[in-house]
Amino acid sequence: MRFGAIGAGAVAVAFARKALAAGHEVVLSNRHGPDSLARRVSELGIGASAGAVEEAARLDYVLLAVPWPNVQDALRGLPEWNRRVLIDATNPFIEYSPNLVLADLGGRGASEIVAGLASGARVVKAFNSIVTARFDEGPVKNGGVRVIFVSGDDSESKAFIKGLIKSFGFDPIDLGGLVMGGRLQQAGGPLAGRDLVNFGDH
Ligand SMILES: NC(=O)c1ccc[n+]([C@@H]2O[C@H](COP(=O)([O-])OP(=O)(O)OC[C@H]3O[C@@H](n4cnc5c(N)ncnc54)[C@H](OP(=O)(O)O)[C@@H]3O)[C@@H](O)[C@H]2O)c1
Repeated sequence: MRFGAIGAGAVAVAFARKALAAGHEVVLSNRHGPDSLARRVSELGIGASAGAVEEAARLDYVLLAVPWPNVQDALRGLPEWNRRVLIDATNPFIEYSPNLVLADLGGRGASEIVAGLASGARVVKAFNSIVTARFDEGPVKNGGVRVIFVSGDDSESKAFIKGLIKSFGFDPIDLGGLVMGGRLQQAGGPLAGRDLVNFGDH
């Protein structure tokens, strides 16, 4: 599978490492263009490449990994989604330092807003709830397996992402649809940022 990534920062690179290790390819993109990513791509190694945002967004599975204030811009003017899958890894922070500040979403879920900006995409919320350092560290903690939450309204695309998470060695937990599940796992929700570890069957 060839994944596109809108964004080429901490989350996109952590995702790329796992996807490449599982035998996939990843096309990273950012606002500064493919040349700005040459070093990152060569460090990631075989299977990684850089492209224009539109090129990454044309692929069947596209990771969205940009800061929340940039989401609208990042999704503007892209090719029709036509049911291609948008994996929403964003969290609705408007500031990180000195303190984390959540955006006022006017009562909507963050992924509902993303879905509204990517009309025709099947949005699956995933990889937002795990801090990159833990994702990088790997699935096993104290003999258990780290959990990654998944929400979405389309069962086929969600099943694919859950399989992908399993292939990375993590334990996917399906929280249901985007409206309820997305709110549980987004920053500010009760399951956000938890380092949940499964010590039972997985
Ligand atoms: N860091 C974590 O532990 C973590 C964990 C889970 C989820 N998240 C969430 O995941 C998202 C990404 O976080 P991150 O830590 O990866 O951020 P980051 O390291 O700052 O990377 C952001 C990337 O997005 C690109 N970008 C910004 N605006 C863009 C646009 N309009 N179009 C295309 N690319 C754009 C940036 O490149 P240019 O500036 O060159 O465009 C950069 O490559 C955030 O919403 C964050 O809340 C973070």
